[in-house]
Amino acid sequence: MEQILILPGDGIGPEVVEQAIRVLEKVSKLQKFPLSLEEGLIGGASLDRHGVPITEETLQKAKRSRAVLLGAVGGPQWDDLPTDRRPEKALLRIRKELGCFANLRPAKLYGALIDSSPLRPEIVSGVDLLVVRELTGGLYFGEPRGVERRDGIERGVNTLVYTTPEIERVARVAFEAASQRRKKVTSVDKANVLETTALWRRVVTDLHQEYRDVSLHHLYVDNCAMQLIQNPKQFDVILTENLFGDILSDEAAMLTGSIGMLPSASMGGEHAIYEPVHGSAPDIAGQGKANPLATILSVAMLLRYSLRQEGVADTIEKAVEKVLNEGYRTADLARPGAAVVGTAKMGDLVLGHL
Ligand code: IPM
Ligand code: MG
Repeated sequence: MEQILILPGDGIGPEVVEQAIRVLEKVSKLQKFPLSLEEGLIGGASLDRHGVPITEETLQKAKRSRAVLLGAVGGPQWDDLPTDRRPEKALLRIRKELGCFANLRPAKLYGALIDSSPLRPEIVSGVDLLVVRELTGGLYFGEPRGVERRDGIERGVNTLVYTTPEIERVARVAFEAASQRRKKVTSVDKANVLETTALWRRVVTDLHQEYRDVSLHHLYVDNCAMQLIQNPKQFDVILTENLFGDILSDEAAMLTGSIGMLPSASMGGEHAIYEPVHGSAPDIAGQGKANPLATILSVAMLLRYSLRQEGVADTIEKAVEKVLNEGYRTADLARPGAAVVGTAKMGDLVLGHL
């Protein structure tokens, strides 16, 4: 039986994960593939209980699972902790320990949501892109790091470091993904200023030799940020390093109407983590109004990539599309004056189409 570890986390994490579990349980029953779901603590929830953002035991459980479904971590009550004990540290650790170096963030505009996007319909209609973000290297992990005080002056340091194999393996994921899509990779760097990303550009260009049916383009990150707004339809797969990917994937998410719609998969070796891109949204936590669709769509990715249940994944994505076509909106998607449904109701509606 496949083992799935559920880590709801903080803020709206538990609310949205609850709906996603209902979806997962329903499809596993309908399609008769038994799953064993186990829950654990991560982030602030783990800090409050165990004094650490993730325990060794939870990490071990994750390593014994086929996949991890994660909600979100963080909140103002833990903001003053030192970096090493912040809830976010748990995310970084689990990504690293599970070897999930490639983060896939598809940003696809559902036709029904065209009016929810802050950009004009003619700019965003048909947007369908995939950000492949490097997830276990770069500034997030580079050494040396820290803040030190010398002669009364503080100095903060982080290090942007990538090795050739780290670049190559994530670039391979991007080329492979593009060959199943519209066969275009845009690699994003700051090669005009940063040596590390000049290396990035060179390694990606070399690897491209193996993928001649895919076209490769390079953009500087500032230009990419601009083009995502100006002409987002040009993009198929965007390949980039960790921090640039963090920023560009939030930007790409907004094209689709709301960051509340964006699922993600983080993979590399045997393990994978699935989570919504939106984060813990402490301002609306516990009010039952968060959008569960990104987490439900993350379950679809889990089924597709970790459980090889392509058909079931399609069914869930279609169910989400139907609910949107019927006009149902959570608060993040609703236009002024429109009727709004809450988290659990949105879950019910998706379940109704399965
Ligand atoms: C994300 C988040 C995380 C990141 C934070 C919460 C550590 O913003 O998954 O995009 O920066 O990777
Ligand atoms: Mg982010």
